[in-house]
Amino acid sequence: MKIGILFYSKSGNTKQIGERIKKQSEKKNHAVDIVEVNPESEPGFFKASFSAIRQKQLPITNDTFDVSSYDLIFVGCPIWVGKPAPLIKSMIQKTTGFDNTKASVFITCGGGEKPGSNAVDLIKYYLQNQQANILDETLIVHMNRKGKIRKEIPSVEDFVNNTLESL
Ligand SMILES: Cc1cc2nc3c(=O)[nH]c(=O)nc-3n(C[C@H](O)[C@H](O)[C@H](O)COP(=O)(O)O)c2cc1C
Repeated sequence: MKIGILFYSKSGNTKQIGERIKKQSEKKNHAVDIVEVNPESEPGFFKASFSAIRQKQLPITNDTFDVSSYDLIFVGCPIWVGKPAPLIKSMIQKTTGFDNTKASVFITCGGGEKPGSNAVDLIKYYLQNQQANILDETLIVHMNRKGKIRKEIPSVEDFVNNTLESL
């Protein structure tokens, strides 16, 4: 199967999880591409917070990403003030070819998000608007300020395995 991992990461936490998702998917013999969202300029704390509250899109330099050749896309971002970093919204809207492509969502945060998170629902909503086929499996990772994992709900490996088994 061909798998894409699409994520935004400001300080490296979400990237770290995206790379583990890649490793676990490859362990299951799937071909994986990673696409990282590149903001035109990295927002500081206040701009990040403000844009997140309003879900105001920030400009990105990525080319349009066509996902039509992928069987599954993992989509991830950090949580800012209880909302998805809106750079993932910008990227989802710049992504074409979803047409029922299966998508599974992961987030990292300081610990504010629990299963049933509204922020996760918002990412799913952006994906649904692009006609993606959203899978039930979701991964929430709580990080500390030093970029160390505090809690994985469920473990990254279970998340990947459960997602693959649900296809
Ligand atoms: C502007 C800003 C707002 C944040 N707001 C929250 C929040 O509301 N809840 C939370 O649990 N973590 C919050 N965090 C922590 C990040 O979600 C967390 O550190 C995340 O893992 C960062 O991912 P990254 O390294 O991929 O950018 C915030 C971080 C920033 C920079």
